[in-house]
Amino acid sequence: MFLLSNVLFFLSSFILSSKGNFDIQCSNGRQALWSFDVFNYTFSVRCSTPGQSCRNKTGRCNKQFLCCPRTFKMSSKSQLYDRASDIKLIRIGNDYKNLYRLFEIHLLSNPQANYDFRTRWLFFDKTLRDLFEMPNAKFWFSIIDCMQNHGIAYAYVPLNATSITSNISAMTILTRQKNSTDSIYICYMATRKQHRRQGLGTRLLQQIVHRALNEQKNGIKYITMHVNTLNIVALELYERCGWRCYDYLPSYLDHDPHHITNHAYALRLHLENVKNVTSLCRDSKAIHMNPFDNELSIRNCNRTPVHL
Ligand SMILES: *[C@@H]1O[C@H](CO)[C@@H](O)[C@H](O)[C@H]1NC(C)=O
Ligand SMILES: *[C@@H]1O[C@H](CO)[C@@H](O)[C@H](O)[C@H]1NC(C)=O
Ligand SMILES: *[C@@H]1O[C@H](CO)[C@@H](O)[C@H](O)[C@H]1NC(C)=O
Ligand SMILES: *[C@@H]1O[C@H](CO)[C@@H](O)[C@H](O)[C@H]1NC(C)=O
Ligand SMILES: *[C@@H]1O[C@H](CO)[C@@H](O)[C@H](O)[C@H]1NC(C)=O
Ligand SMILES: *[C@@H]1O[C@H](CO)[C@@H](O)[C@H](O)[C@H]1NC(C)=O
Repeated sequence: MFLLSNVLFFLSSFILSSKGNFDIQCSNGRQALWSFDVFNYTFSVRCSTPGQSCRNKTGRCNKQFLCCPRTFKMSSKSQLYDRASDIKLIRIGNDYKNLYRLFEIHLLSNPQANYDFRTRWLFFDKTLRDLFEMPNAKFWFSIIDCMQNHGIAYAYVPLNATSITSNISAMTILTRQKNSTDSIYICYMATRKQHRRQGLGTRLLQQIVHRALNEQKNGIKYITMHVNTLNIVALELYERCGWRCYDYLPSYLDHDPHHITNHAYALRLHLENVKNVTSLCRDSKAIHMNPFDNELSIRNCNRTPVHL
Protein backbone atom coordinates (compact mmCIF):
# COMPACT_ATOMS: atom_id res chain seq x y z
CA MET A 1 0.00 0.00 0.00
CA PHE A 2 2.78 2.36 0.93
CA LEU A 3 4.60 1.67 -2.33
CA LEU A 4 1.46 2.13 -4.37
CA SER A 5 0.86 5.45 -2.69
CA ASN A 6 4.32 6.64 -3.56
CA VAL A 7 3.69 5.80 -7.18
CA LEU A 8 0.43 7.70 -7.11
CA PHE A 9 2.19 10.63 -5.58
CA PHE A 10 4.68 10.60 -8.40
CA LEU A 11 1.93 10.50 -10.99
CA SER A 12 0.07 13.33 -9.43
CA SER A 13 2.51 15.73 -11.04
CA PHE A 14 3.75 19.23 -10.52
CA ILE A 15 0.43 20.97 -10.45
CA LEU A 16 -1.30 18.64 -8.11
CA SER A 17 1.65 18.17 -5.86
CA SER A 18 0.98 18.82 -2.23
CA LYS A 19 3.45 21.71 -2.28
CA GLY A 20 2.45 25.34 -2.25
CA ASN A 21 -1.00 26.05 -0.95
CA PHE A 22 -2.03 22.42 -0.93
CA ASP A 23 -0.11 21.54 2.15
CA ILE A 24 -2.04 18.67 3.59
CA GLN A 25 -0.73 16.26 6.17
CA CYS A 26 -1.99 12.85 7.08
CA SER A 27 -2.48 12.16 10.74
CA ASN A 28 0.70 10.06 10.67
CA GLY A 29 2.60 13.21 9.72
CA ARG A 30 3.25 12.27 6.09
CA GLN A 31 2.06 14.45 3.24
CA ALA A 32 -1.26 13.46 1.77
CA LEU A 33 -1.47 12.30 -1.84
CA TRP A 34 -3.46 14.24 -4.36
CA SER A 35 -4.72 12.87 -7.61
CA PHE A 36 -7.08 14.09 -10.22
CA ASP A 37 -9.23 11.72 -12.22
CA VAL A 38 -9.68 13.06 -15.75
CA PHE A 39 -12.48 10.66 -16.49
CA ASN A 40 -14.94 11.92 -13.94
CA TYR A 41 -13.22 15.11 -12.77
CA THR A 42 -12.75 14.13 -9.20
CA PHE A 43 -9.95 15.13 -6.98
CA SER A 44 -8.96 12.62 -4.41
CA VAL A 45 -6.86 13.21 -1.41
CA ARG A 46 -5.59 10.18 0.40
CA CYS A 47 -3.22 9.03 3.03
CA SER A 48 -1.06 5.96 2.65
CA THR A 49 -3.24 4.11 5.12
CA PRO A 50 -6.85 4.01 3.95
CA GLY A 51 -9.23 5.55 6.43
CA GLN A 52 -6.58 7.74 7.96
CA SER A 53 -7.52 11.40 8.00
CA CYS A 54 -5.83 14.38 6.42
CA ARG A 55 -5.49 17.62 8.22
CA ASN A 56 -4.00 21.02 7.67
CA LYS A 57 -1.08 22.37 9.64
CA THR A 58 -3.22 23.22 12.64
CA GLY A 59 -4.48 19.69 12.68
CA ARG A 60 -8.02 20.44 11.58
CA CYS A 61 -10.08 19.31 8.63
CA ASN A 62 -12.02 21.87 6.67
CA LYS A 63 -13.43 22.31 3.19
CA GLN A 64 -10.08 23.22 1.70
CA PHE A 65 -8.20 20.51 3.50
CA LEU A 66 -10.31 17.49 2.90
CA CYS A 67 -10.52 14.51 5.13
CA CYS A 68 -9.49 11.27 3.50
CA PRO A 69 -10.44 9.08 1.89
CA ARG A 70 -12.81 11.29 -0.01
CA THR A 71 -13.33 12.64 -3.49
CA PHE A 72 -14.15 16.14 -4.50
CA LYS A 73 -16.39 16.83 -7.51
CA MET A 74 -15.16 19.44 -9.92
CA SER A 75 -17.39 22.34 -10.82
CA SER A 76 -19.70 21.87 -13.79
CA LYS A 77 -17.26 23.82 -15.93
CA SER A 78 -14.65 21.15 -15.22
CA GLN A 79 -11.88 23.49 -14.35
CA LEU A 80 -8.80 22.57 -12.50
CA TYR A 81 -7.18 25.52 -10.86
CA ASP A 82 -3.87 25.45 -9.05
CA ARG A 83 -3.47 28.30 -6.64
CA ALA A 84 0.24 27.74 -6.14
CA SER A 85 1.11 28.58 -9.75
CA ASP A 86 -2.12 30.22 -11.00
CA ILE A 87 -2.41 27.71 -13.82
CA LYS A 88 -5.91 26.77 -14.90
CA LEU A 89 -6.83 23.75 -17.01
CA ILE A 90 -10.22 23.98 -18.64
CA ARG A 91 -11.86 21.11 -20.40
CA ILE A 92 -13.18 22.45 -23.68
CA GLY A 93 -15.46 19.69 -24.76
CA ASN A 94 -13.84 18.40 -27.91
CA ASP A 95 -12.97 14.83 -26.98
CA TYR A 96 -11.12 12.94 -29.68
CA LYS A 97 -12.11 9.40 -30.70
CA ASN A 98 -13.47 8.81 -27.20
CA LEU A 99 -9.85 8.37 -26.12
CA TYR A 100 -8.49 11.85 -25.52
CA ARG A 101 -9.83 14.91 -23.80
CA LEU A 102 -8.89 18.44 -24.84
CA PHE A 103 -7.84 21.04 -22.27
CA GLU A 104 -7.04 24.69 -22.64
CA ILE A 105 -4.28 25.84 -20.30
CA HIS A 106 -4.36 29.41 -19.02
CA LEU A 107 -1.94 31.33 -16.93
CA LEU A 108 -3.72 33.67 -14.61
CA SER A 109 -1.82 36.75 -13.72
CA ASN A 110 -1.82 37.77 -10.15
CA PRO A 111 0.60 40.63 -9.50
CA GLN A 112 0.65 39.77 -5.80
CA ALA A 113 1.71 36.20 -6.39
CA ASN A 114 5.32 35.26 -6.11
CA TYR A 115 5.10 32.32 -8.45
CA ASP A 116 6.82 29.19 -7.50
CA PHE A 117 9.15 28.76 -10.45
CA ARG A 118 8.95 25.01 -10.26
CA THR A 119 5.20 24.66 -10.35
CA ARG A 120 4.57 27.13 -13.13
CA TRP A 121 7.38 26.95 -15.67
CA LEU A 122 8.86 23.55 -15.02
CA PHE A 123 5.49 21.99 -15.74
CA PHE A 124 5.77 23.18 -19.34
CA ASP A 125 9.50 22.52 -19.47
CA LYS A 126 9.10 18.92 -18.37
CA THR A 127 6.15 18.31 -20.70
CA LEU A 128 8.04 19.56 -23.75
CA ARG A 129 11.20 17.63 -22.84
CA ASP A 130 9.06 14.48 -22.66
CA LEU A 131 7.10 15.13 -25.85
CA PHE A 132 10.14 16.11 -27.91
CA GLU A 133 12.24 13.36 -26.28
CA MET A 134 14.96 15.87 -25.46
CA PRO A 135 15.75 15.05 -21.85
CA ASN A 136 18.50 17.65 -21.60
CA ALA A 137 16.84 20.52 -23.43
CA LYS A 138 15.83 23.65 -21.57
CA PHE A 139 12.59 25.10 -22.83
CA TRP A 140 11.54 27.17 -19.85
CA PHE A 141 13.10 30.43 -20.97
CA SER A 142 11.35 30.55 -24.32
CA ILE A 143 8.15 29.20 -22.76
CA ILE A 144 8.06 32.14 -20.37
CA ASP A 145 8.48 34.44 -23.35
CA CYS A 146 5.78 32.63 -25.24
CA MET A 147 3.21 32.28 -22.46
CA GLN A 148 3.61 35.82 -21.18
CA ASN A 149 2.72 37.35 -24.53
CA HIS A 150 -0.95 36.39 -24.91
CA GLY A 151 0.14 32.78 -24.51
CA ILE A 152 -2.28 29.93 -24.48
CA ALA A 153 -1.79 26.19 -24.64
CA TYR A 154 -3.94 23.26 -25.74
CA ALA A 155 -3.30 19.73 -24.57
CA TYR A 156 -4.80 16.31 -25.28
CA VAL A 157 -4.85 13.92 -22.33
CA PRO A 158 -5.95 10.25 -22.52
CA LEU A 159 -9.27 9.58 -20.80
CA ASN A 160 -7.70 6.80 -18.77
CA ALA A 161 -4.74 8.89 -17.60
CA THR A 162 -3.99 8.97 -13.93
CA SER A 163 -2.95 12.60 -13.97
CA ILE A 164 -3.67 15.39 -16.41
CA THR A 165 -0.40 17.14 -16.01
CA SER A 166 2.00 14.22 -16.34
CA ASN A 167 0.02 12.41 -19.05
CA ILE A 168 -0.27 15.06 -21.75
CA SER A 169 -0.14 13.24 -25.11
CA ALA A 170 0.04 16.24 -27.41
CA MET A 171 0.45 19.91 -26.69
CA THR A 172 0.74 23.20 -28.53
CA ILE A 173 1.60 26.66 -27.23
CA LEU A 174 0.40 29.73 -29.09
CA THR A 175 1.41 33.35 -28.72
CA ARG A 176 1.52 36.73 -30.44
CA GLN A 177 4.93 37.62 -31.76
CA LYS A 178 6.19 41.02 -30.82
CA ASN A 179 5.35 43.63 -33.46
CA SER A 180 2.79 41.39 -35.05
CA THR A 181 -0.84 42.42 -34.73
CA ASP A 182 -2.28 40.26 -37.50
CA SER A 183 -1.03 36.78 -36.63
CA ILE A 184 -1.09 34.05 -34.07
CA TYR A 185 2.27 32.30 -33.73
CA ILE A 186 2.75 28.61 -32.91
CA CYS A 187 5.69 28.41 -30.49
CA TYR A 188 5.61 24.67 -29.98
CA MET A 189 3.69 21.67 -31.10
CA ALA A 190 4.54 18.08 -30.20
CA THR A 191 3.01 14.66 -29.72
CA ARG A 192 4.35 12.03 -27.33
CA LYS A 193 5.95 9.14 -29.20
CA GLN A 194 3.49 6.42 -28.11
CA HIS A 195 0.57 8.61 -29.18
CA ARG A 196 1.75 9.57 -32.67
CA ARG A 197 0.09 8.55 -35.96
CA GLN A 198 -3.39 8.83 -34.51
CA GLY A 199 -4.21 12.27 -35.81
CA LEU A 200 -3.61 14.21 -32.58
CA GLY A 201 -1.32 16.72 -34.33
CA THR A 202 -3.89 17.30 -37.06
CA ARG A 203 -6.56 17.70 -34.44
CA LEU A 204 -4.50 20.30 -32.58
CA LEU A 205 -3.96 22.22 -35.82
CA GLN A 206 -7.71 22.25 -36.42
CA GLN A 207 -8.20 23.57 -32.90
CA ILE A 208 -5.64 26.33 -33.52
CA VAL A 209 -7.32 27.33 -36.79
CA HIS A 210 -10.71 27.27 -35.10
CA ARG A 211 -9.42 29.68 -32.47
CA ALA A 212 -7.77 31.94 -35.04
CA LEU A 213 -10.97 32.13 -37.12
CA ASN A 214 -12.75 33.37 -34.00
CA GLU A 215 -10.10 36.05 -33.70
CA GLN A 216 -10.48 37.33 -37.24
CA LYS A 217 -12.75 40.02 -35.82
CA ASN A 218 -9.70 41.19 -33.81
CA GLY A 219 -7.64 41.54 -36.97
CA ILE A 220 -6.00 38.10 -37.04
CA LYS A 221 -5.22 37.07 -40.63
CA TYR A 222 -2.45 34.46 -40.36
CA ILE A 223 -1.16 31.63 -38.24
CA THR A 224 2.63 31.63 -38.40
CA MET A 225 5.44 29.36 -37.22
CA HIS A 226 9.07 28.45 -37.81
CA VAL A 227 10.09 24.96 -38.84
CA ASN A 228 13.56 23.49 -39.01
CA THR A 229 14.44 23.03 -42.70
CA LEU A 230 15.32 19.36 -42.13
CA ASN A 231 12.06 18.53 -40.36
CA ILE A 232 10.41 17.29 -43.54
CA VAL A 233 7.69 15.28 -41.79
CA ALA A 234 6.44 18.36 -39.95
CA LEU A 235 6.84 20.62 -42.99
CA GLU A 236 4.75 18.35 -45.19
CA LEU A 237 2.07 18.00 -42.51
CA TYR A 238 1.74 21.78 -42.28
CA GLU A 239 1.73 22.17 -46.06
CA ARG A 240 -1.01 19.57 -46.46
CA CYS A 241 -3.01 21.56 -43.92
CA GLY A 242 -2.55 24.78 -45.91
CA TRP A 243 0.58 26.44 -44.48
CA ARG A 244 3.08 27.82 -46.98
CA CYS A 245 6.68 28.88 -46.59
CA TYR A 246 7.11 32.61 -47.15
CA ASP A 247 10.66 33.14 -45.90
CA TYR A 248 13.90 31.20 -45.52
CA LEU A 249 15.89 32.15 -42.44
CA PRO A 250 19.45 30.81 -42.45
CA SER A 251 20.90 30.49 -38.95
CA TYR A 252 17.56 31.43 -37.38
CA LEU A 253 17.97 28.70 -34.77
CA ASP A 254 21.60 29.53 -33.97
CA HIS A 255 20.89 30.13 -30.30
CA ASP A 256 19.28 26.73 -29.96
CA PRO A 257 21.74 23.83 -29.77
CA HIS A 258 19.14 21.05 -29.93
CA HIS A 259 18.61 21.01 -33.67
CA ILE A 260 20.39 19.09 -36.39
CA THR A 261 20.41 22.17 -38.57
CA ASN A 262 20.07 25.79 -37.56
CA HIS A 263 18.13 26.95 -40.61
CA ALA A 264 14.41 27.59 -40.52
CA TYR A 265 11.47 28.15 -42.81
CA ALA A 266 8.89 30.73 -41.81
CA LEU A 267 5.45 29.31 -42.55
CA ARG A 268 2.05 30.90 -42.52
CA LEU A 269 -1.54 29.91 -43.06
CA HIS A 270 -3.72 32.55 -44.65
CA LEU A 271 -7.03 32.29 -42.77
CA GLU A 272 -8.95 33.52 -45.81
CA ASN A 273 -7.83 30.34 -47.65
CA VAL A 274 -9.59 28.13 -45.11
CA LYS A 275 -12.96 26.89 -46.34
CA ASN A 276 -13.78 24.16 -43.84
CA VAL A 277 -11.97 23.81 -40.54
CA THR A 278 -13.51 20.44 -39.63
CA SER A 279 -12.06 18.78 -42.71
CA LEU A 280 -8.78 20.71 -42.70
CA CYS A 281 -5.74 18.45 -43.34
CA ARG A 282 -8.08 15.64 -44.45
CA ASP A 283 -9.86 17.01 -47.48
CA SER A 284 -8.23 19.06 -50.25
CA LYS A 285 -11.42 21.12 -50.55
CA ALA A 286 -10.92 22.43 -47.01
CA ILE A 287 -8.34 24.88 -48.38
CA HIS A 288 -8.62 27.09 -51.40
CA MET A 289 -5.01 28.07 -51.92
CA ASN A 290 -4.25 31.50 -53.28
CA PRO A 291 -1.72 30.85 -56.12
CA PHE A 292 0.41 33.71 -54.80
CA ASP A 293 1.13 31.73 -51.62
CA ASN A 294 2.50 28.82 -53.69
CA GLU A 295 4.61 31.19 -55.81
CA LEU A 296 6.07 32.81 -52.70
CA SER A 297 7.13 29.40 -51.39
CA ILE A 298 9.00 28.62 -54.62
CA ARG A 299 10.49 32.10 -54.92
CA ASN A 300 11.51 32.78 -51.29
CA CYS A 301 12.09 29.27 -49.98
CA ASN A 302 12.93 27.31 -53.11
CA ARG A 303 10.25 24.89 -52.02
CA THR A 304 7.41 23.40 -54.04
CA PRO A 305 4.75 22.72 -51.43
CA VAL A 306 3.08 19.33 -51.14
CA HIS A 307 -0.69 19.20 -50.90
CA LEU A 308 -3.43 16.68 -50.27
C1 LIG B 1 -14.40 8.36 -10.49
O1 LIG B 1 -13.36 8.65 -9.57
C2 LIG B 1 -13.38 7.87 -8.37
C3 LIG B 1 -12.27 8.39 -7.49
O2 LIG B 1 -11.05 8.36 -8.14
C4 LIG B 1 -13.23 6.41 -8.72
O3 LIG B 1 -13.29 5.64 -7.53
C5 LIG B 1 -14.34 5.99 -9.66
O4 LIG B 1 -14.17 4.66 -10.06
C6 LIG B 1 -14.37 6.89 -10.89
N1 LIG B 1 -15.49 6.57 -11.74
C7 LIG B 1 -15.36 6.26 -13.01
C8 LIG B 1 -16.62 6.01 -13.76
O5 LIG B 1 -14.27 6.19 -13.55
C1 LIG C 1 -6.95 24.69 9.39
O1 LIG C 1 -8.30 24.40 9.70
C2 LIG C 1 -8.86 25.25 10.68
C3 LIG C 1 -10.26 24.74 11.02
O2 LIG C 1 -11.06 24.67 9.87
C4 LIG C 1 -8.90 26.68 10.16
O3 LIG C 1 -9.43 27.55 11.14
C5 LIG C 1 -7.49 27.09 9.83
O4 LIG C 1 -7.50 28.38 9.21
C6 LIG C 1 -6.86 26.12 8.84
N1 LIG C 1 -5.45 26.45 8.60
C7 LIG C 1 -4.99 26.79 7.42
C8 LIG C 1 -3.50 27.05 7.35
O5 LIG C 1 -5.73 26.90 6.45
C1 LIG D 1 -5.35 3.60 -21.87
O1 LIG D 1 -6.09 3.34 -23.06
C2 LIG D 1 -5.26 2.99 -24.17
C3 LIG D 1 -6.15 2.90 -25.39
O2 LIG D 1 -7.33 2.24 -25.13
C4 LIG D 1 -4.55 1.67 -23.86
O3 LIG D 1 -3.73 1.30 -24.95
C5 LIG D 1 -3.71 1.86 -22.61
O4 LIG D 1 -3.09 0.66 -22.25
C6 LIG D 1 -4.56 2.36 -21.45
N1 LIG D 1 -3.66 2.70 -20.35
C7 LIG D 1 -3.95 2.43 -19.10
C8 LIG D 1 -2.94 2.83 -18.09
O5 LIG D 1 -5.01 1.88 -18.79
C1 LIG E 1 0.97 8.73 -17.02
O1 LIG E 1 2.27 9.23 -16.79
C2 LIG E 1 3.08 8.37 -16.03
C3 LIG E 1 4.38 9.09 -15.74
O2 LIG E 1 4.94 9.61 -16.90
C4 LIG E 1 3.28 7.07 -16.81
O3 LIG E 1 4.10 6.18 -16.06
C5 LIG E 1 1.92 6.44 -17.06
O4 LIG E 1 2.06 5.27 -17.84
C6 LIG E 1 1.01 7.41 -17.78
N1 LIG E 1 -0.32 6.84 -17.88
C7 LIG E 1 -1.05 6.93 -18.99
C8 LIG E 1 -2.39 6.30 -18.95
O5 LIG E 1 -0.65 7.45 -20.01
C1 LIG F 1 9.53 46.14 -33.41
O1 LIG F 1 9.30 47.37 -34.05
C2 LIG F 1 10.19 48.41 -33.65
C3 LIG F 1 9.75 49.72 -34.28
O2 LIG F 1 9.40 49.53 -35.62
C4 LIG F 1 11.65 48.02 -34.05
O3 LIG F 1 12.54 49.00 -33.63
C5 LIG F 1 11.97 46.69 -33.38
O4 LIG F 1 13.23 46.23 -33.80
C6 LIG F 1 10.93 45.61 -33.71
N1 LIG F 1 11.20 44.42 -32.94
C7 LIG F 1 11.18 43.19 -33.47
C8 LIG F 1 11.43 42.07 -32.54
O5 LIG F 1 10.97 43.00 -34.65
C1 LIG G 1 -16.95 20.49 -43.65
O1 LIG G 1 -16.39 19.19 -43.51
C2 LIG G 1 -17.17 18.31 -42.74
C3 LIG G 1 -16.36 17.05 -42.50
O2 LIG G 1 -15.82 16.55 -43.69
C4 LIG G 1 -18.50 18.07 -43.43
O3 LIG G 1 -19.30 17.18 -42.66
C5 LIG G 1 -19.22 19.40 -43.62
O4 LIG G 1 -20.40 19.21 -44.37
C6 LIG G 1 -18.31 20.40 -44.33
N1 LIG G 1 -18.94 21.71 -44.29
C7 LIG G 1 -19.13 22.43 -45.40
C8 LIG G 1 -19.76 23.75 -45.22
O5 LIG G 1 -18.76 22.04 -46.49
